Formats: sequence, structure tokens, C-alpha cells
Amino acid sequence: MRIDIITVLPELLKSPFEASILKRAIEANLVEVYFHNLRDYTSDNYKSIDDTQFGGGAGMVMMIEPIDKCISALKKQRHYDEVIYMTPDGETLKQGIANHLSLKENIIILCGHYKGVDQRVRDQFITKEISIGDYVLSGGELGAAVLCDAIIRLIPGVLGNETSALTDSFQDGLLAPPIYTKPREYKGWKVPELLFGGNFPKIEKWREEQAYLRTKERRPDLLDD
Ligand code: ADE
Repeated sequence: MRIDIITVLPELLKSPFEASILKRAIEANLVEVYFHNLRDYTSDNYKSIDDTQFGGGAGMVMMIEPIDKCISALKKQRHYDEVIYMTPDGETLKQGIANHLSLKENIIILCGHYKGVDQRVRDQFITKEISIGDYVLSGGELGAAVLCDAIIRLIPGVLGNETSALTDSFQDGLLAPPIYTKPREYKGWKVPELLFGGNFPKIEKWREEQAYLRTKERRPDLLDD
């Protein structure tokens, strides 16, 4: 898989890809991630990427030309399955979207800034708009990092244990059950006894019950879907 991220602040985005699982995935060539600085696609001396809004109103708007130049240059080189725009008014990111995108070959992610992009960018180039939640960030970069992490960890071979992404919270529509490791007892706080017996059908049933109870208590909305 290849991900091209278009941003005015590449330095804000890079560090999540330089550590841990994402770094290993890139080093193992399971995913390629490229950053494109929009200012490299400007045509004036000031390298402007934004301007004031037609019709008046506070806040700057990202101009179509540098974005068009960047996206067109990329599209000339390969086919893209999706061109995603990170924005608070997009579809809220859920596990299902990450699952779907992890199967794609090439995607572009455009990070918005200021008031956002000229509507014609959205109309002409964008195939999917994604929000990471109902709050406004100062730009799309942190959202893009969240989206990439959610996608990349699903690519086969990225997580050590192939099954572990499948047992995450949300993969079966439920939150994950409680988990424990050594020691069996710490400061008098004990691990549930049934986890030691080696009775795996019983353990599995307990985990399913716990996942259900936790979901019912914390996220009853998930049970309605
Ligand atoms: N840009 C600004 N806020 C955002 C959000 N909540 N999700 C994605 N991109 C954003």
C-alpha cells in the first residue's frame, strides 16, 4: 500500500511514522508513506497557499491551484483508489472505514488548514471526507496521523500476531474484554481465577460476556447498530 499525504506542515506529521509499529511497517516495505509540502506547488514568490474568502468573512481559504498541481502530479504517476480530505464535517472515522481503506492500493490524504479548502477542491478531486471526531483541530495533520495508524496496523504482516487486530475493540462491534498479565497477585489485587485453569472454552465465554457487559455499560449505542 502507498499513502501520499499533502500538507502545509509536514514536520507536524512525520514523527508518528518514525517510531514503533508504523516505522517497522515502513521499513518492512509493507507500506510506503510520502509527504508533499503544498508550498512546493505554489507559483508566486511568497509561496502563498491561502487567500481571503469571496463574499467576506473571517479566516483564510486554501486555494485550489497548488492542491490541483500536487494531486495532478501524483495522479499522473499512478491510479489512486481514494483522495481523502481530513475535515471536521466529514464522515466520522470508525473501525469499518479503517478496515475498508486498509485493502486499498494507493490513497492520497489532503490535510486542511485555516477555514478549509476552496469548495471546488472538494467537488473536483475528493472522493471521501473523513473527520476523526466532533471537535475542531487546528489542521488535518493530526487527524491524518490517526487515520494512517488505524489503517496501517491492519495491513497483513504489520502486527506480529496476525490475529491480534481481529480481537481489537470494535472489530466485532463490541469493546474489548479486560486483560491481565503477571503477576497473578499484586498488592493483594488478584487476576480472575478462571483465567488460570486452561479451560479455553470457558475463558472464551467469559471474555465474550465481559466484552458485552463493558459495551452495555460504556457504549450502549454500539449495541443498537
Ligand atoms: N481538521 C480539523 N478538525 C478535524 C477533525 N475533527 N477531523 C479531521 N480533520 C480535521
